Amino acid sequence: MLLGNNSTSIYRDQCFQDIYQQRKKASFAQLKMDFTNGESPSELLQAQVHVWNHTFNFINSMSLKCAIQLGIPDIIHNHGQPMTLSNLVAALPVHPTKTHYIYRLMRMLVHTGFFAHKNSHNRDQEEYSLTLASRLLLKDEPLRASPLSLIVLDPILTTPWHFLSTWFENNDPTPFEIVHGKTFYGYLAHEPSLGNMFNEAMATDSQLVGRALIGEGKGVFEGLKSLVDVAGGTGTVAKAIADAFPHLKCTVFDLPHVVADLQGTQNLDFLGGDMFEAIPPANAILLKWILHNWNDEQSIKILKRCREAIPSREEGGKVIIIDMAINQNQKVDEKLIKTQLFFDMLMMVLLDGIERTEKEWEKLFLAAGFSHYKITPILGLRSLIEVFP
Ligand SMILES: C[S@@+](CC[C@H](N)C(=O)[O-])C[C@H]1O[C@@H](n2cnc3c(N)ncnc32)[C@H](O)[C@@H]1O
Repeated sequence: MLLGNNSTSIYRDQCFQDIYQQRKKASFAQLKMDFTNGESPSELLQAQVHVWNHTFNFINSMSLKCAIQLGIPDIIHNHGQPMTLSNLVAALPVHPTKTHYIYRLMRMLVHTGFFAHKNSHNRDQEEYSLTLASRLLLKDEPLRASPLSLIVLDPILTTPWHFLSTWFENNDPTPFEIVHGKTFYGYLAHEPSLGNMFNEAMATDSQLVGRALIGEGKGVFEGLKSLVDVAGGTGTVAKAIADAFPHLKCTVFDLPHVVADLQGTQNLDFLGGDMFEAIPPANAILLKWILHNWNDEQSIKILKRCREAIPSREEGGKVIIIDMAINQNQKVDEKLIKTQLFFDMLMMVLLDGIERTEKEWEKLFLAAGFSHYKITPILGLRSLIEVFP
């Protein structure tokens, strides 16, 4: 009986195997018929992986957003040592019916480099700890990256992506304006909660850039007597520079509503205005993360206002730009280039802005009447660009 049953099941398995092999051959033959370039089935399956991987890329972003919103990095950090899954689940603000799903979210985030993981035979005893990337997500970390992640992943900014192809087909200025009926900065001015989120995202990024600037980039500010940080937001970079150079008079110049309630210090003040109209005079102008927001025509206008505000090169006049310089020919980090291209697309969707190559920068500088420039790639994704009259 047992033997009979066993041989029946072996026979049945064999039949299934045969059918499976026949179907596999048939479907591969069908695939070969559908594609005339002679690609092998394994090449086509790899191409399918590529398409699906890119189709599902948003899951990386949304898993990251969920981890930030649930406060997972802070919970693990506050635990003070690697945290078991059961302790993590107990500390999280999740509904009792959802606790067993946390493992899957954590598995994804371990895979994408946000948490380190130690295996255990008992799943509840698996341990998680922070990586450098998740340390940048801690709430009290001055260099935190989470405000930028949260604003970029807010539906107000993600919805316009669904209108990218519509935008290509009509003459609306940006996908953002198709959806919201206002420019990006116009929208921020009328939505204080989003405006505050944006200012926080800029300020936290500026903490990191400010630190790098007064470290490796310090030489750029030596000998200057005055500096205007044009569109300097709430002044984080200018504060770092003013503290590092107590004899340098720094002014943060931004839209009136952005600088309205901000207090200066002994060598730092705030001034409201429109950079397209006029920029206050100084030895040097700083433009951090500004020109990528604007198209070429607008950027040339801003650069011309900067040129009017500074003295000649002999008298030390210069414009200091912090922005990306895309260089796809270089043998640079693939992740870095891809992130620069992400930013370029983001600028197109939100603002009619652009991330520029060195050639594109050079064209702008010449059109605005400058004669020399120097690009120093010392700020990760961004470069320090000095431009001289
Ligand atoms: C991308 S943020 C950069 C802020 C700051 N430089 C930083 O990196 O932290 C761009 C800034 O440009 C300012 N801005 C936009 N239009 C402006 C204008 N017409 N005149 C002056 N500032 C403007 C915004 O208010 C915002 O603070």
